[in-house]
Amino acid sequence: MQDSTDHSAATELADITTTRAGYDGVAQLYADLFKHNLESRALDRAMLAAFAESVADLSSGPVADLGCGPGQVAAHLATLGAEVFGIDLSARMVALARAEFPHLSFDQGSMERLSIDDGALGGIVAWYSLIHLPPDRVPMVFREFHRVLADHGHVLLAFQTADLPDTVEAFDHKVARAYRWAPKRLARLLTDAGFTVIARMVREPRPDERFGQAFLLASKVR
Ligand SMILES: C[S@@+](CC[C@H](N)C(=O)[O-])C[C@H]1O[C@@H](n2cnc3c(N)ncnc32)[C@H](O)[C@@H]1O
Repeated sequence: MQDSTDHSAATELADITTTRAGYDGVAQLYADLFKHNLESRALDRAMLAAFAESVADLSSGPVADLGCGPGQVAAHLATLGAEVFGIDLSARMVALARAEFPHLSFDQGSMERLSIDDGALGGIVAWYSLIHLPPDRVPMVFREFHRVLADHGHVLLAFQTADLPDTVEAFDHKVARAYRWAPKRLARLLTDAGFTVIARMVREPRPDERFGQAFLLASKVR
């Protein structure tokens, strides 16, 4: 079902090569740092719980965790009853996810080009993974999400917020170039791609975070 990504240097965009190499390099450190991250984030878990409940009601296909990293969000969704698999650019991340959560399926691939049939998914989670996409490619990715989701399928996004309303700002992420979005702006792109935005949640940064954190839940409604 998964990866048709062409990793050859001739065809791959430079930012994708850089992001993959960056996460390959820090994969173990990242996995150790974020293993228990959700435990102290009740509001983030609340969004995941609402998403899991929404896709369970629908039962029209599995959930793809796109940019799954070491797999802890996919594993959390599985404990909530979701049938979930993960896809990530980084081979090291995929290897760590498979080792830690052998009961789940993880594959290497890009959210920009999914080898998934039209309408095959009940849900998509992109948890701090869209942040590395150059903003001009986000509309195309949302159209790809729309293509692979079943009618009434749900998408859940997590990302760092921009300071100013309706803006997108590059920030100095440690691994790869990244962007933080005003929720309103990203929500508009979801709407443009055919989604209906159901909920947006913004919370203040915790002491170990630099920025506010935002969450968007949307569905594909015909
Ligand atoms: C900040 S980490 C988030 C990982 C995980 N979702 C979490 O919350 O811990 C970003 C992840 O997205 C992946 N990623 C970035 N761009 C991607 C793309 N175009 N397709 C698939 N994965 C991507 C990276 O390899 C990395 O593992």
